[in-house]
Amino acid sequence: MDFLSNVERASALGGGFLAVVAAMMILTLVLRRVHVVARMRLRVAILFQLSGVAGILLSAALLSADFDPASFIFGIVRDVSDVLLAVSIVTILGVILFDFVLEPLRMRPPPILTDLILAAAYVAGTILVLGHIGRDLSSVLTTSAIATAAIGFSLQDTLKSVMGGMSMQMDRTVRAGDWIRVDSHEGRVTEIRWRQTSIETRDGNTVVIPNSHMASTPVTIVGKHGNAQRKTRHWIHFEIDHGVPTGQVIETVEGALRESPVPGMAPEPEPDCILVDVRNASQTFAARFWLRDLEDDVGPDSVARFRISAALQRIGVGFSFPTQSLLLHPKDESHLERSQAQEHRTKLDALSRVPVFAPLTAEEREALAKKLVYTPFSAGETVTRQGGSAHWLYMIVRGTAVVRVANESGGAERRVALLGPGDFFGEMALLTGAPRSATVVALSEVVTYKLDKDSFLETIQARPSMAEEISRLLAQRRVELDAVREDLNEEGKRQRLTTAQRDLLSRIREFFRLH
Ligand code: CMP
Repeated sequence: MDFLSNVERASALGGGFLAVVAAMMILTLVLRRVHVVARMRLRVAILFQLSGVAGILLSAALLSADFDPASFIFGIVRDVSDVLLAVSIVTILGVILFDFVLEPLRMRPPPILTDLILAAAYVAGTILVLGHIGRDLSSVLTTSAIATAAIGFSLQDTLKSVMGGMSMQMDRTVRAGDWIRVDSHEGRVTEIRWRQTSIETRDGNTVVIPNSHMASTPVTIVGKHGNAQRKTRHWIHFEIDHGVPTGQVIETVEGALRESPVPGMAPEPEPDCILVDVRNASQTFAARFWLRDLEDDVGPDSVARFRISAALQRIGVGFSFPTQSLLLHPKDESHLERSQAQEHRTKLDALSRVPVFAPLTAEEREALAKKLVYTPFSAGETVTRQGGSAHWLYMIVRGTAVVRVANESGGAERRVALLGPGDFFGEMALLTGAPRSATVVALSEVVTYKLDKDSFLETIQARPSMAEEISRLLAQRRVELDAVREDLNEEGKRQRLTTAQRDLLSRIREFFRLH
């Protein structure tokens, strides 16, 4: 028998040996050229091909030399060569399927699943080839089952990691490119392997986390929420002394961060500032903004801190020191006196801004200031409720409040007026004894000084000329309310205003016996 027919006898491919091997080699070389990434795998395939072909040629040579085909040596050389060729064919088919068909269709399975499919294909190819050349596979299968059980038992920990990695890749919870936080480590996933996941931190370090740990510990996928664009919220905490108006700090910080956005910050949702704690004579605030660029959180953080600090300094507010103040009474009277004097000045200032109190002399103002009570409201709080009973009159020093009224049938409330610094409200019910005519709600932080009913009435009685100004204001407000309730037009309002003012003035004078 000639050498060529011995080659065909030795190979599982039989008569197709030469054609298949030649086609396989050409295909491998072409694929290596066009697919750079698959080169490594194809290099191994070439190695297998060459070894397989060499083995088959050796087997054919042995046959030509009348070597016993039933001998153990011949059997081993031939079996191994055939299996190597089969593995090489599977590798090439795998590259074609995964890299040239599924990859462009974006259907390529995760790496671990690809490995599993290939491993199954290698086993199937081996069994097919050995079966084809008449080998008894039952002993091979039994031995491999026992070996698998033994390996599984001794490599429990490793298998746990492998299973962790597999499940992570199969359900695609974590993918390469995601930002994740595991324990104290945060970084971008660079690769997920069978046993471990590697992340690259912002400081340029690579942290290798065993998949078994990833499977048993909470993993935060930073900035991932649904299909929305990736962004994560960043918090900056700072402390301000207790006496500084909360709303003013919030307004200033929000303004500083919104007016000129910090690089790396997402424009939506807008940055905001909230009060998170009040203790030890200071208020703790948090400025919050959304980071778009997870790569760099320290840069935007630094810019934002600088902005906040500068904006607060511009309004004369500094960060509070972590101190504990010890107020010693009664020995340190001067401290108490100083703060009382300061507050008194603020009250006088507030009074001077209200036009109705303009006619008061300095002494009268001094006396009235002593009766004012500092009363702040946070945004959204109701100061007076329509229909409620009246005990106080309020003077606004800071912020804006809205006056709303519901019509007689109790329908939806309508806005009647906006009040700001220098305005006062709550006088109607105090002067007439009627329930509150409207609801007043703070729109921002509102700082007011309130005056109780008796002090207010005393002040008017002492200075009757105030009644004029008050009746004018009262008439105006009454007409606005009537207009909302009764749908009055401009002409109707004008007519009613003249009569209302005259009527109210005489009623106030009569009520307080101001003649
Ligand atoms: P009072 O009725 O005591 O309580 C609600 C207050 O809202 C009322 O006093 C007024 O001070 C104020 N108010 C009512 N109507 C107006 C208005 N049109 N413009 C401004 N303030 C008003």
